[in-house]
Amino acid sequence: MASLGYYEILIVLGVMCFFLLSFWGIVNGLPWNWPLVGMLPDLLLHVRRFHDRCTDVLGRTGGTFLIKGPWFADMDMLGTVDPANIHYIMSDNFSNFPKGPQFMKIFDILGDGVFNSDGDLWRNQRKLARLQISHQRFHQCLVKTSQDKVEKGLIPILEHVSIHGLVVDLQDLFQRFTFDTTFFLVTGYDPCCLSSQLPDVPFSKAMDEVGEAIFHRHVVPKCIWKFQRWLGIGPEEKLSKACKTLDCIIGKYIMTKRDELSRGIKMEEQEDGVDLLTSYLKEDEMEGLKCDDKFLRDTILNFMIAGRDTTSSALTWFIWLVSTHPIVEAKIREELKDAMPTKEANKWRLFSVEEVGKLVYLHSALCESLRLYPPVPFQHKEPLQPDILPSGHRVHPKMKVMFSLYAMGRLKFIWGEDCFEFKPERWISERGIIKHEPSYKFLAFNAGPRTCLGKEVAFTQMKVVATTIIHNYHVEVVKGHHVAPNVSLILYMKNGLMVRVTKKWS
Ligand code: HEM
Repeated sequence: MASLGYYEILIVLGVMCFFLLSFWGIVNGLPWNWPLVGMLPDLLLHVRRFHDRCTDVLGRTGGTFLIKGPWFADMDMLGTVDPANIHYIMSDNFSNFPKGPQFMKIFDILGDGVFNSDGDLWRNQRKLARLQISHQRFHQCLVKTSQDKVEKGLIPILEHVSIHGLVVDLQDLFQRFTFDTTFFLVTGYDPCCLSSQLPDVPFSKAMDEVGEAIFHRHVVPKCIWKFQRWLGIGPEEKLSKACKTLDCIIGKYIMTKRDELSRGIKMEEQEDGVDLLTSYLKEDEMEGLKCDDKFLRDTILNFMIAGRDTTSSALTWFIWLVSTHPIVEAKIREELKDAMPTKEANKWRLFSVEEVGKLVYLHSALCESLRLYPPVPFQHKEPLQPDILPSGHRVHPKMKVMFSLYAMGRLKFIWGEDCFEFKPERWISERGIIKHEPSYKFLAFNAGPRTCLGKEVAFTQMKVVATTIIHNYHVEVVKGHHVAPNVSLILYMKNGLMVRVTKKWS
Protein backbone atom coordinates (compact mmCIF):
# COMPACT_ATOMS: atom_id res chain seq x y z
CA MET A 1 0.00 0.00 0.00
CA ALA A 2 2.95 2.27 0.81
CA SER A 3 4.03 2.15 -2.82
CA LEU A 4 0.60 3.40 -4.05
CA GLY A 5 0.38 7.05 -5.05
CA TYR A 6 -2.46 9.46 -4.30
CA TYR A 7 -4.26 8.81 -7.62
CA GLU A 8 -3.94 5.03 -7.37
CA ILE A 9 -5.50 5.16 -3.90
CA LEU A 10 -8.39 7.21 -5.27
CA ILE A 11 -8.91 4.70 -8.10
CA VAL A 12 -8.82 1.74 -5.69
CA LEU A 13 -11.32 3.52 -3.41
CA GLY A 14 -13.53 4.32 -6.42
CA VAL A 15 -13.54 0.68 -7.56
CA MET A 16 -14.30 -0.50 -4.00
CA CYS A 17 -17.17 2.00 -3.81
CA PHE A 18 -18.52 0.77 -7.13
CA PHE A 19 -18.58 -2.85 -5.95
CA LEU A 20 -19.99 -1.94 -2.53
CA LEU A 21 -22.76 0.16 -4.03
CA SER A 22 -23.52 -2.46 -6.69
CA PHE A 23 -23.66 -5.05 -3.90
CA TRP A 24 -26.02 -2.74 -1.98
CA GLY A 25 -28.11 -2.45 -5.13
CA ILE A 26 -28.27 -6.24 -5.35
CA VAL A 27 -29.20 -6.49 -1.67
CA ASN A 28 -32.03 -3.92 -1.65
CA GLY A 29 -32.90 -4.47 -5.31
CA LEU A 30 -33.17 -0.77 -6.16
CA PRO A 31 -31.22 1.21 -8.78
CA TRP A 32 -28.23 3.11 -7.41
CA ASN A 33 -28.02 6.86 -8.00
CA TRP A 34 -24.48 7.35 -9.39
CA PRO A 35 -22.75 10.72 -9.48
CA LEU A 36 -23.23 12.44 -12.88
CA VAL A 37 -25.04 9.58 -14.62
CA GLY A 38 -27.76 9.02 -12.03
CA MET A 39 -29.61 5.71 -12.49
CA LEU A 40 -28.93 5.48 -16.22
CA PRO A 41 -26.53 2.48 -15.78
CA ASP A 42 -29.33 0.50 -14.10
CA LEU A 43 -31.78 1.45 -16.84
CA LEU A 44 -29.35 0.34 -19.54
CA LEU A 45 -28.38 -2.82 -17.64
CA HIS A 46 -32.03 -3.89 -17.36
CA VAL A 47 -33.37 -2.42 -20.61
CA ARG A 48 -34.09 -5.87 -22.07
CA ARG A 49 -36.34 -6.70 -19.13
CA PHE A 50 -37.56 -3.16 -18.59
CA HIS A 51 -41.17 -4.09 -17.69
CA ASP A 52 -40.20 -6.72 -15.11
CA ARG A 53 -37.62 -4.37 -13.61
CA CYS A 54 -40.36 -1.70 -13.20
CA THR A 55 -42.60 -4.29 -11.50
CA ASP A 56 -39.78 -5.29 -9.20
CA VAL A 57 -38.72 -1.76 -8.19
CA LEU A 58 -42.25 -0.38 -7.80
CA GLY A 59 -43.26 -3.47 -5.80
CA ARG A 60 -40.37 -2.94 -3.36
CA THR A 61 -41.10 0.75 -2.87
CA GLY A 62 -44.83 0.66 -2.18
CA GLY A 63 -45.74 1.81 -5.69
CA THR A 64 -43.77 5.04 -6.26
CA PHE A 65 -40.08 5.59 -6.96
CA LEU A 66 -37.99 8.54 -8.18
CA ILE A 67 -35.71 7.57 -11.07
CA LYS A 68 -32.79 9.97 -11.32
CA GLY A 69 -31.47 10.63 -14.82
CA PRO A 70 -28.01 11.96 -15.74
CA TRP A 71 -27.47 15.51 -14.41
CA PHE A 72 -27.21 16.97 -17.93
CA ALA A 73 -30.25 15.30 -19.46
CA ASP A 74 -33.47 16.41 -17.70
CA MET A 75 -34.47 12.75 -17.45
CA ASP A 76 -35.70 12.62 -13.83
CA MET A 77 -38.88 10.60 -13.72
CA LEU A 78 -41.26 9.66 -10.95
CA GLY A 79 -42.48 6.13 -11.59
CA THR A 80 -45.81 5.35 -9.96
CA VAL A 81 -48.47 2.65 -9.96
CA ASP A 82 -50.28 3.94 -6.90
CA PRO A 83 -53.99 4.07 -7.92
CA ALA A 84 -54.52 7.20 -5.76
CA ASN A 85 -51.75 9.02 -7.65
CA ILE A 86 -53.11 7.84 -10.99
CA HIS A 87 -56.62 9.00 -10.16
CA TYR A 88 -55.24 12.38 -9.11
CA ILE A 89 -53.14 12.83 -12.27
CA MET A 90 -55.63 11.43 -14.79
CA SER A 91 -58.83 12.92 -13.37
CA ASP A 92 -58.80 15.12 -10.25
CA ASN A 93 -55.96 17.39 -11.34
CA PHE A 94 -56.03 16.57 -15.06
CA SER A 95 -55.31 20.16 -16.13
CA ASN A 96 -51.94 20.16 -14.36
CA PHE A 97 -50.80 16.99 -16.12
CA PRO A 98 -50.88 17.44 -19.92
CA LYS A 99 -48.86 15.16 -22.15
CA GLY A 100 -46.51 18.11 -22.36
CA PRO A 101 -43.94 19.54 -24.80
CA GLN A 102 -41.44 16.67 -24.34
CA PHE A 103 -44.11 14.17 -25.40
CA MET A 104 -44.92 16.30 -28.46
CA LYS A 105 -41.23 16.34 -29.44
CA ILE A 106 -40.77 12.60 -28.99
CA PHE A 107 -43.96 11.84 -30.96
CA ASP A 108 -43.52 14.68 -33.48
CA ILE A 109 -44.38 12.36 -36.38
CA LEU A 110 -48.00 12.27 -35.14
CA GLY A 111 -48.31 15.99 -35.94
CA ASP A 112 -51.24 17.70 -34.20
CA GLY A 113 -53.40 14.57 -33.97
CA VAL A 114 -55.59 13.67 -31.00
CA PHE A 115 -52.86 11.50 -29.44
CA ASN A 116 -50.28 14.20 -29.60
CA SER A 117 -52.08 17.38 -28.60
CA ASP A 118 -53.16 19.10 -25.42
CA GLY A 119 -55.55 21.93 -24.54
CA ASP A 120 -58.26 23.11 -26.94
CA LEU A 121 -56.73 21.43 -29.97
CA TRP A 122 -56.98 18.06 -28.23
CA ARG A 123 -60.46 18.80 -26.79
CA ASN A 124 -61.95 19.68 -30.21
CA GLN A 125 -60.37 16.71 -31.93
CA ARG A 126 -61.53 14.33 -29.25
CA LYS A 127 -65.08 15.68 -29.45
CA LEU A 128 -65.09 15.25 -33.20
CA ALA A 129 -63.53 11.77 -33.12
CA ARG A 130 -65.98 10.63 -30.42
CA LEU A 131 -68.93 11.86 -32.49
CA GLN A 132 -67.71 9.91 -35.51
CA ILE A 133 -66.86 6.71 -33.65
CA SER A 134 -70.15 6.58 -31.77
CA HIS A 135 -72.20 7.18 -34.94
CA GLN A 136 -74.36 4.33 -36.24
CA ARG A 137 -72.74 4.51 -39.72
CA PHE A 138 -69.29 3.90 -38.18
CA HIS A 139 -70.64 0.98 -36.16
CA GLN A 140 -72.08 -0.57 -39.34
CA CYS A 141 -68.71 -0.17 -41.00
CA LEU A 142 -67.03 -1.87 -38.00
CA VAL A 143 -69.43 -4.85 -38.06
CA LYS A 144 -69.08 -5.37 -41.80
CA THR A 145 -65.28 -5.00 -41.85
CA SER A 146 -64.62 -7.27 -38.87
CA GLN A 147 -66.84 -10.09 -40.14
CA ASP A 148 -65.61 -9.81 -43.74
CA LYS A 149 -61.97 -9.87 -42.71
CA VAL A 150 -62.49 -12.94 -40.55
CA GLU A 151 -64.31 -14.80 -43.33
CA LYS A 152 -62.25 -13.73 -46.33
CA GLY A 153 -58.88 -13.06 -44.71
CA LEU A 154 -58.29 -15.03 -41.52
CA ILE A 155 -60.20 -18.26 -42.12
CA PRO A 156 -58.66 -19.14 -45.53
CA ILE A 157 -55.18 -18.88 -43.98
CA LEU A 158 -56.12 -20.92 -40.90
CA GLU A 159 -57.70 -23.55 -43.17
CA HIS A 160 -54.58 -23.72 -45.30
CA VAL A 161 -52.16 -24.12 -42.39
CA SER A 162 -54.39 -26.63 -40.60
CA ILE A 163 -54.82 -28.83 -43.70
CA HIS A 164 -51.04 -28.84 -44.39
CA GLY A 165 -49.97 -29.06 -40.72
CA LEU A 166 -47.92 -25.87 -41.07
CA VAL A 167 -46.56 -23.64 -38.32
CA VAL A 168 -47.93 -20.10 -38.41
CA ASP A 169 -47.10 -16.93 -36.49
CA LEU A 170 -50.45 -15.88 -35.04
CA GLN A 171 -49.04 -12.52 -33.95
CA ASP A 172 -48.22 -11.73 -37.57
CA LEU A 173 -51.72 -12.76 -38.70
CA PHE A 174 -53.35 -10.60 -36.02
CA GLN A 175 -51.19 -7.61 -36.95
CA ARG A 176 -52.29 -8.03 -40.54
CA PHE A 177 -55.91 -8.42 -39.49
CA THR A 178 -55.98 -5.22 -37.42
CA PHE A 179 -53.94 -3.35 -40.00
CA ASP A 180 -56.49 -4.11 -42.71
CA THR A 181 -59.55 -3.51 -40.54
CA THR A 182 -58.26 -0.28 -38.97
CA PHE A 183 -57.12 1.04 -42.35
CA PHE A 184 -60.54 0.29 -43.79
CA LEU A 185 -62.38 1.91 -40.87
CA VAL A 186 -60.23 5.00 -41.19
CA THR A 187 -59.92 5.40 -44.97
CA GLY A 188 -62.48 3.08 -46.57
CA TYR A 189 -59.75 1.18 -48.50
CA ASP A 190 -58.59 -2.38 -47.84
CA PRO A 191 -54.79 -2.81 -48.19
CA CYS A 192 -55.24 -6.65 -48.22
CA CYS A 193 -52.29 -7.28 -45.95
CA LEU A 194 -54.00 -10.42 -44.60
CA SER A 195 -53.96 -12.57 -47.69
CA SER A 196 -52.47 -15.97 -48.43
CA GLN A 197 -49.23 -14.54 -49.90
CA LEU A 198 -48.64 -12.60 -46.64
CA PRO A 199 -47.30 -9.63 -48.66
CA ASP A 200 -44.89 -7.00 -47.36
CA VAL A 201 -46.85 -3.80 -46.88
CA PRO A 202 -44.68 -0.64 -46.91
CA PHE A 203 -47.14 1.33 -44.75
CA SER A 204 -47.17 -1.34 -42.07
CA LYS A 205 -43.36 -1.70 -42.16
CA ALA A 206 -42.96 2.08 -41.88
CA MET A 207 -45.22 2.07 -38.81
CA ASP A 208 -43.01 -0.58 -37.16
CA GLU A 209 -39.94 1.56 -37.81
CA VAL A 210 -41.64 4.62 -36.35
CA GLY A 211 -42.44 2.61 -33.19
CA GLU A 212 -38.82 1.48 -32.80
CA ALA A 213 -37.40 4.99 -33.26
CA ILE A 214 -39.88 6.53 -30.83
CA PHE A 215 -38.98 3.93 -28.22
CA HIS A 216 -35.31 4.72 -28.75
CA ARG A 217 -36.14 8.37 -28.02
CA HIS A 218 -37.54 7.28 -24.66
CA VAL A 219 -34.38 5.57 -23.44
CA VAL A 220 -31.52 7.77 -24.65
CA PRO A 221 -30.99 11.38 -23.53
CA LYS A 222 -32.69 13.96 -25.78
CA CYS A 223 -29.36 15.48 -26.89
CA ILE A 224 -28.26 12.09 -28.28
CA TRP A 225 -31.32 11.35 -30.43
CA LYS A 226 -31.41 14.96 -31.60
CA PHE A 227 -27.75 14.67 -32.64
CA GLN A 228 -28.51 11.40 -34.45
CA ARG A 229 -31.40 13.13 -36.20
CA TRP A 230 -29.15 15.99 -37.23
CA LEU A 231 -26.57 13.53 -38.62
CA GLY A 232 -29.32 11.38 -40.16
CA ILE A 233 -28.01 8.14 -38.64
CA GLY A 234 -29.30 5.12 -36.67
CA PRO A 235 -32.99 4.90 -35.76
CA GLU A 236 -33.45 8.57 -36.71
CA GLU A 237 -32.46 7.83 -40.29
CA LYS A 238 -35.04 5.02 -40.44
CA LEU A 239 -37.64 7.30 -38.85
CA SER A 240 -37.17 9.99 -41.43
CA LYS A 241 -37.50 7.47 -44.32
CA ALA A 242 -40.55 5.89 -42.66
CA CYS A 243 -42.17 9.33 -42.32
CA LYS A 244 -41.74 9.99 -46.02
CA THR A 245 -43.32 6.62 -46.86
CA LEU A 246 -46.30 7.26 -44.58
CA ASP A 247 -46.84 10.82 -45.83
CA CYS A 248 -46.69 9.72 -49.43
CA ILE A 249 -49.16 6.81 -49.02
CA ILE A 250 -51.60 8.77 -46.86
CA GLY A 251 -51.43 11.70 -49.30
CA LYS A 252 -52.43 9.40 -52.18
CA TYR A 253 -55.40 7.98 -50.30
CA ILE A 254 -56.66 11.46 -49.36
CA MET A 255 -56.34 12.59 -52.96
CA THR A 256 -58.15 9.53 -54.32
CA LYS A 257 -60.97 9.87 -51.81
CA ARG A 258 -61.40 13.58 -52.55
CA ASP A 259 -61.54 12.74 -56.22
CA GLU A 260 -64.09 9.94 -55.71
CA LEU A 261 -66.30 12.13 -53.58
CA SER A 262 -66.15 15.03 -56.03
CA ARG A 263 -67.30 12.61 -58.76
CA GLY A 264 -70.18 11.44 -56.56
CA ILE A 265 -68.75 7.96 -56.01
CA LYS A 266 -69.70 6.47 -52.62
CA MET A 267 -71.37 9.74 -51.68
CA GLU A 268 -74.52 7.97 -50.58
CA GLU A 269 -74.48 6.40 -47.17
CA GLN A 270 -74.60 2.69 -47.80
CA GLU A 271 -75.85 -0.11 -45.60
CA ASP A 272 -72.23 -1.04 -44.94
CA GLY A 273 -71.63 2.24 -43.12
CA VAL A 274 -69.05 4.94 -43.68
CA ASP A 275 -65.33 5.27 -42.90
CA LEU A 276 -63.83 8.19 -40.97
CA LEU A 277 -62.12 9.86 -43.95
CA THR A 278 -65.38 10.04 -45.90
CA SER A 279 -67.19 11.52 -42.87
CA TYR A 280 -64.48 14.14 -42.41
CA LEU A 281 -64.29 15.01 -46.09
CA LYS A 282 -68.00 15.71 -46.29
CA GLU A 283 -67.47 18.80 -44.17
CA ASP A 284 -64.95 21.61 -44.68
CA GLU A 285 -64.92 22.42 -41.03
CA MET A 286 -66.09 20.55 -37.93
CA GLU A 287 -65.86 21.52 -34.25
CA GLY A 288 -63.79 24.53 -35.29
CA LEU A 289 -61.22 22.28 -37.02
CA LYS A 290 -60.39 22.81 -40.66
CA CYS A 291 -60.49 19.46 -42.46
CA ASP A 292 -57.51 20.24 -44.73
CA ASP A 293 -54.91 17.72 -45.92
CA LYS A 294 -52.59 18.24 -42.94
CA PHE A 295 -55.47 17.64 -40.51
CA LEU A 296 -56.56 14.53 -42.42
CA ARG A 297 -52.99 13.19 -42.59
CA ASP A 298 -52.55 13.59 -38.82
CA THR A 299 -55.97 12.06 -38.10
CA ILE A 300 -55.35 9.00 -40.27
CA LEU A 301 -51.93 8.37 -38.77
CA ASN A 302 -53.12 8.86 -35.18
CA PHE A 303 -55.96 6.39 -35.66
CA MET A 304 -53.71 3.85 -37.32
CA ILE A 305 -51.24 4.08 -34.42
CA ALA A 306 -54.10 3.89 -31.90
CA GLY A 307 -55.95 0.97 -33.40
CA ARG A 308 -53.57 -1.34 -35.21
CA ASP A 309 -50.94 -2.51 -32.77
CA THR A 310 -52.96 -2.30 -29.57
CA THR A 311 -55.73 -4.66 -30.67
CA SER A 312 -53.40 -7.19 -32.30
CA SER A 313 -51.13 -7.25 -29.25
CA ALA A 314 -54.16 -7.86 -27.01
CA LEU A 315 -55.38 -10.69 -29.26
CA THR A 316 -51.99 -12.39 -29.37
CA TRP A 317 -51.58 -12.52 -25.58
CA PHE A 318 -55.19 -13.57 -25.15
CA ILE A 319 -55.05 -16.53 -27.54
CA TRP A 320 -51.76 -17.64 -26.00
CA LEU A 321 -53.17 -17.46 -22.47
CA VAL A 322 -56.32 -19.36 -23.46
CA SER A 323 -54.38 -22.03 -25.33
CA THR A 324 -52.17 -22.61 -22.29
CA HIS A 325 -55.07 -22.62 -19.77
CA PRO A 326 -57.31 -25.55 -20.76
CA ILE A 327 -59.86 -24.89 -18.00
CA VAL A 328 -60.44 -21.32 -19.19
CA GLU A 329 -60.60 -22.55 -22.79
CA ALA A 330 -63.23 -25.16 -21.85
CA LYS A 331 -65.32 -22.53 -20.06
CA ILE A 332 -65.27 -20.21 -23.07
CA ARG A 333 -66.31 -23.10 -25.33
CA GLU A 334 -69.10 -23.97 -22.94
CA GLU A 335 -70.33 -20.38 -22.98
CA LEU A 336 -70.28 -20.38 -26.78
CA LYS A 337 -72.27 -23.61 -26.92
CA ASP A 338 -74.87 -22.16 -24.58
CA ALA A 339 -75.19 -19.12 -26.83
CA MET A 340 -76.25 -21.11 -29.91
CA PRO A 341 -79.08 -23.50 -30.80
CA THR A 342 -78.29 -27.07 -29.62
CA LYS A 343 -78.26 -28.53 -33.14
CA GLU A 344 -75.48 -26.15 -34.14
CA ALA A 345 -73.27 -26.79 -31.11
CA ASN A 346 -70.85 -29.30 -32.62
CA LYS A 347 -70.43 -27.72 -36.01
CA TRP A 348 -68.35 -25.12 -37.73
CA ARG A 349 -69.81 -21.73 -36.89
CA LEU A 350 -69.08 -18.02 -36.85
CA PHE A 351 -70.59 -15.61 -34.35
CA SER A 352 -72.23 -12.29 -35.09
CA VAL A 353 -71.23 -9.03 -33.39
CA GLU A 354 -74.57 -9.09 -31.59
CA GLU A 355 -73.97 -12.60 -30.24
CA VAL A 356 -70.43 -11.97 -29.03
CA GLY A 357 -71.56 -8.82 -27.20
CA LYS A 358 -73.50 -10.96 -24.72
CA LEU A 359 -70.70 -13.31 -23.64
CA VAL A 360 -69.78 -12.55 -20.03
CA TYR A 361 -67.05 -15.15 -19.48
CA LEU A 362 -65.30 -14.26 -22.75
CA HIS A 363 -65.36 -10.59 -21.78
CA SER A 364 -63.92 -11.35 -18.36
CA ALA A 365 -61.14 -13.45 -19.90
CA LEU A 366 -60.24 -10.60 -22.26
CA CYS A 367 -60.08 -8.11 -19.36
CA GLU A 368 -57.92 -10.52 -17.40
CA SER A 369 -55.54 -10.87 -20.32
CA LEU A 370 -55.39 -7.05 -20.71
CA ARG A 371 -54.61 -6.74 -17.00
CA LEU A 372 -51.56 -9.02 -17.30
CA TYR A 373 -50.49 -7.90 -20.76
CA PRO A 374 -51.65 -4.31 -21.39
CA PRO A 375 -50.85 -3.45 -25.04
CA VAL A 376 -49.66 0.02 -23.98
CA PRO A 377 -47.25 -1.03 -21.22
CA PHE A 378 -46.28 2.43 -19.97
CA GLN A 379 -47.29 6.08 -20.28
CA HIS A 380 -45.93 9.42 -19.15
CA LYS A 381 -47.11 12.93 -18.32
CA GLU A 382 -45.41 16.24 -17.47
CA PRO A 383 -46.64 18.46 -14.62
CA LEU A 384 -47.28 22.10 -15.57
CA GLN A 385 -46.89 23.37 -11.99
CA PRO A 386 -45.09 21.88 -8.97
CA ASP A 387 -47.50 19.55 -7.19
CA ILE A 388 -47.70 17.01 -4.38
CA LEU A 389 -49.24 13.65 -5.20
CA PRO A 390 -51.55 11.80 -2.77
CA SER A 391 -48.60 9.50 -1.91
CA GLY A 392 -46.73 12.59 -0.64
CA HIS A 393 -44.21 12.65 -3.52
CA ARG A 394 -43.37 16.04 -5.01
CA VAL A 395 -43.31 16.62 -8.75
CA HIS A 396 -42.16 19.63 -10.75
CA PRO A 397 -42.27 20.75 -14.41
CA LYS A 398 -38.75 19.54 -15.23
CA MET A 399 -39.59 15.92 -14.52
CA LYS A 400 -41.88 13.32 -16.02
CA VAL A 401 -44.36 11.10 -14.24
CA MET A 402 -44.34 7.59 -15.64
CA PHE A 403 -46.99 4.88 -15.08
CA SER A 404 -46.11 1.27 -15.72
CA LEU A 405 -49.38 -0.36 -16.76
CA TYR A 406 -47.54 -3.67 -16.96
CA ALA A 407 -46.42 -3.43 -13.34
CA MET A 408 -49.89 -2.33 -12.21
CA GLY A 409 -51.41 -5.66 -13.22
CA ARG A 410 -48.78 -7.60 -11.28
CA LEU A 411 -48.72 -6.06 -7.84
CA LYS A 412 -50.17 -7.84 -4.83
CA PHE A 413 -51.27 -4.65 -3.12
CA ILE A 414 -53.44 -3.82 -6.16
CA TRP A 415 -54.80 -7.22 -7.27
CA GLY A 416 -54.16 -9.53 -4.31
CA GLU A 417 -51.91 -12.54 -3.69
CA ASP A 418 -53.03 -14.29 -6.90
CA CYS A 419 -52.13 -11.31 -9.11
CA PHE A 420 -49.86 -13.40 -11.38
CA GLU A 421 -52.58 -15.94 -12.14
CA PHE A 422 -54.75 -15.79 -15.25
CA LYS A 423 -58.12 -15.94 -13.51
CA PRO A 424 -61.09 -14.51 -15.49
CA GLU A 425 -63.38 -15.23 -12.51
CA ARG A 426 -62.00 -12.19 -10.70
CA TRP A 427 -63.97 -10.06 -13.19
CA ILE A 428 -67.34 -11.69 -12.55
CA SER A 429 -69.59 -10.52 -9.73
CA GLU A 430 -71.75 -12.77 -7.54
CA ARG A 431 -74.71 -11.80 -9.71
CA GLY A 432 -72.90 -13.25 -12.74
CA ILE A 433 -72.26 -9.93 -14.45
CA ILE A 434 -68.98 -8.14 -15.23
CA LYS A 435 -67.50 -6.58 -12.12
CA HIS A 436 -66.52 -2.96 -12.61
CA GLU A 437 -62.90 -2.20 -11.77
CA PRO A 438 -62.01 1.50 -11.63
CA SER A 439 -59.89 2.63 -14.55
CA TYR A 440 -57.16 4.03 -12.28
CA LYS A 441 -56.65 0.41 -11.12
CA PHE A 442 -57.22 -1.24 -14.52
CA LEU A 443 -55.49 1.32 -16.73
CA ALA A 444 -55.25 -0.67 -20.00
CA PHE A 445 -57.59 1.79 -21.77
CA ASN A 446 -56.33 4.85 -19.88
CA ALA A 447 -58.44 6.81 -17.39
CA GLY A 448 -60.19 10.16 -17.03
CA PRO A 449 -60.84 12.60 -19.89
CA ARG A 450 -58.25 10.89 -22.12
CA THR A 451 -59.79 7.43 -21.89
CA CYS A 452 -59.34 5.39 -25.08
CA LEU A 453 -61.98 6.21 -27.68
CA GLY A 454 -61.69 2.83 -29.38
CA LYS A 455 -62.39 0.51 -26.45
CA GLU A 456 -65.66 -0.84 -27.87
CA VAL A 457 -64.15 -1.10 -31.36
CA ALA A 458 -61.30 -3.15 -29.90
CA PHE A 459 -63.57 -5.45 -27.87
CA THR A 460 -65.78 -6.08 -30.91
CA GLN A 461 -62.83 -7.02 -33.11
CA MET A 462 -61.19 -9.16 -30.45
CA LYS A 463 -64.42 -11.05 -29.71
CA VAL A 464 -65.20 -11.75 -33.36
CA VAL A 465 -61.68 -13.17 -33.92
CA ALA A 466 -61.45 -14.99 -30.58
CA THR A 467 -64.81 -16.79 -30.92
CA THR A 468 -63.97 -17.90 -34.47
CA ILE A 469 -60.68 -19.42 -33.34
CA ILE A 470 -61.76 -20.88 -30.00
CA HIS A 471 -64.95 -22.52 -31.28
CA ASN A 472 -63.56 -23.88 -34.53
CA TYR A 473 -59.86 -24.63 -33.98
CA HIS A 474 -57.47 -26.11 -31.52
CA VAL A 475 -54.35 -23.94 -31.11
CA GLU A 476 -51.09 -25.47 -29.90
CA VAL A 477 -47.96 -23.43 -29.28
CA VAL A 478 -44.97 -25.04 -31.02
CA LYS A 479 -42.85 -27.02 -28.53
CA GLY A 480 -39.81 -25.08 -27.34
CA HIS A 481 -41.14 -21.75 -28.62
CA HIS A 482 -40.10 -19.09 -26.14
CA VAL A 483 -42.85 -16.59 -25.36
CA ALA A 484 -41.58 -13.33 -23.87
CA PRO A 485 -42.58 -9.66 -24.08
CA ASN A 486 -40.50 -7.27 -26.17
CA VAL A 487 -39.48 -3.88 -24.85
CA SER A 488 -41.15 -1.22 -26.93
CA LEU A 489 -44.10 1.17 -26.97
CA ILE A 490 -46.44 -1.75 -27.62
CA LEU A 491 -46.24 -4.98 -25.68
CA TYR A 492 -45.62 -7.58 -28.36
CA MET A 493 -44.13 -11.06 -28.11
CA LYS A 494 -40.54 -10.66 -29.13
CA ASN A 495 -40.40 -14.01 -30.97
CA GLY A 496 -43.95 -13.92 -32.30
CA LEU A 497 -46.48 -16.65 -31.43
CA MET A 498 -45.61 -19.76 -33.40
CA VAL A 499 -48.47 -22.27 -33.35
CA ARG A 500 -50.09 -25.20 -35.11
CA VAL A 501 -53.83 -25.10 -35.57
CA THR A 502 -56.12 -28.07 -36.09
CA LYS A 503 -59.73 -27.93 -37.12
CA LYS A 504 -62.23 -29.12 -34.55
CA TRP A 505 -65.07 -29.97 -36.94
CA SER A 506 -64.81 -31.61 -40.33
C1 HEM B 1 -56.99 -3.39 -27.07
C2 HEM B 1 -56.96 -2.29 -27.80
C3 HEM B 1 -56.67 -0.91 -27.29
C4 HEM B 1 -56.03 -0.51 -26.15
C5 HEM B 1 -55.45 -1.38 -25.05
C6 HEM B 1 -55.99 0.94 -26.16
C7 HEM B 1 -55.41 1.71 -25.18
C8 HEM B 1 -55.32 3.09 -25.21
C9 HEM B 1 -54.56 3.89 -24.29
C10 HEM B 1 -53.74 3.35 -23.12
C11 HEM B 1 -54.70 5.18 -24.65
C12 HEM B 1 -54.02 6.40 -24.01
C13 HEM B 1 -52.72 6.62 -24.72
C14 HEM B 1 -52.05 7.89 -24.35
O1 HEM B 1 -52.72 8.84 -23.91
O2 HEM B 1 -50.82 8.00 -24.53
C15 HEM B 1 -55.57 5.21 -25.80
C16 HEM B 1 -55.96 6.36 -26.43
C17 HEM B 1 -56.70 6.37 -27.59
N1 HEM B 1 -57.22 5.27 -28.26
FE1 HEM B 1 -57.04 3.35 -27.72
N2 HEM B 1 -56.60 1.39 -27.31
C18 HEM B 1 -57.04 0.30 -28.03
C19 HEM B 1 -57.69 0.32 -29.24
C20 HEM B 1 -58.09 1.45 -29.89
C21 HEM B 1 -58.79 1.47 -31.14
C22 HEM B 1 -59.20 0.23 -31.94
C23 HEM B 1 -58.99 2.79 -31.46
C24 HEM B 1 -59.69 3.41 -32.64
C25 HEM B 1 -60.38 2.84 -33.53
C26 HEM B 1 -58.43 3.58 -30.39
C27 HEM B 1 -58.46 4.96 -30.35
C28 HEM B 1 -57.85 5.73 -29.37
C29 HEM B 1 -57.76 7.18 -29.43
C30 HEM B 1 -58.33 8.09 -30.51
C31 HEM B 1 -57.04 7.59 -28.30
C32 HEM B 1 -56.66 9.02 -27.90
C33 HEM B 1 -57.59 9.51 -26.81
C34 HEM B 1 -57.20 10.88 -26.29
O3 HEM B 1 -56.01 11.19 -26.17
O4 HEM B 1 -58.12 11.64 -25.96
N3 HEM B 1 -57.90 2.75 -29.46
N4 HEM B 1 -55.93 3.92 -26.13
